[in-house]
Amino acid sequence: MSPQPTPWPRALEWKGGLHLLEQTLLPQEEVWIEISDVDSLIAAIRRLAVRGAPAIGCAAAYGIVLGVRESQTSETWLQRLNQTAQALLKARPTAVNLQTGVRHMLREGEQLANSETSFSEWSPRLLKAAQAFHRQDERLCEAIGRHGAPLLPEGGNILTHCNAGALATGGMGTALAVIYSAFQRGNQLTVFANETRPLLQGARITCWELQRAGIPVTLQCDSAAASAFSQNLIHAVVVGSDRIARNGDVANKIGTYGLAVFAHKHEVPFYVAAPTTTFDFDCPCGDAIPIEEREEQELHSIGLTRIAPEGIQVRNPAFDVTPAHLVTAIITEHGIIRAPNEEKVLAQAGM
Ligand code: MRU
Repeated sequence: MSPQPTPWPRALEWKGGLHLLEQTLLPQEEVWIEISDVDSLIAAIRRLAVRGAPAIGCAAAYGIVLGVRESQTSETWLQRLNQTAQALLKARPTAVNLQTGVRHMLREGEQLANSETSFSEWSPRLLKAAQAFHRQDERLCEAIGRHGAPLLPEGGNILTHCNAGALATGGMGTALAVIYSAFQRGNQLTVFANETRPLLQGARITCWELQRAGIPVTLQCDSAAASAFSQNLIHAVVVGSDRIARNGDVANKIGTYGLAVFAHKHEVPFYVAAPTTTFDFDCPCGDAIPIEEREEQELHSIGLTRIAPEGIQVRNPAFDVTPAHLVTAIITEHGIIRAPNEEKVLAQAGM
């Protein structure tokens, strides 16, 4: 019996090679692209053809497979393994899942090389490790959805920012997994999706995902969020994360911090949904999280049309940090961390 189709789309697939849903074209065009080498994958990650922290981690795991597969000897295989890992790690700086995926594959590769396994089996075994990492992400998303769904108020309006949905992960999403799960359990909620300037992941991707799943969604511009809180239109906020420091500070798409401040002011719960692959236990606090600065062109122009005058300075950070004290709870695959702090974050990881 073939598996039931899911109401959510997939960001990436391995079918004899790596295939990505080209997210820069959504929602106008649904185009799958094949990625056959590491440089093309790095370029795809940088231009956000594949994006969202867990999805980048899964894509990078497959990228390691692409990097080694032409190697003819065990020496070149190991050399390519390390070179590919170093190149992929530089693709985007903030999402720690990229490192999690790459390090998982490095460990697997080194274990294989130190085992009795014959060289002809190394690459197929590495592919299996990448597929297992991808499947694991799928399970983590489901667990996040299961734990988070009961937190959402019945029939409430739920605000989300950017896209932390299926297209940001190897499964059903993180923030949107909570929403999909609550909806499947009969919660007649409505999602308020911030458009998410400047690349509009909220308007383009979150609205597309939710609409095709039949979940009511209302798009608003980012600067409409404050008035939505003041008019009691928002009953809970749920967002994803690119990296969570060990003290519970959370990096996510630029604009998230502002939403946390509004939510705090208006006593609305602010939830962050993320798998433990998004936790960086070596990172002491939000100040130590590297924040990606993206190209000026994304701000001074819309498409190819320049809208700001020539010669101005542009500041285009892709992420911001929400301090732990503004986070009501972090929803992970293990359960709920209420009022997160270092002790609770480490306990969740069994540390
Ligand atoms: O620049 P993007 O589109 O990769 O940013 C994505 C986000 O900020 C998401 O909220 C985050 O990666 C969590 S995805 C489950």
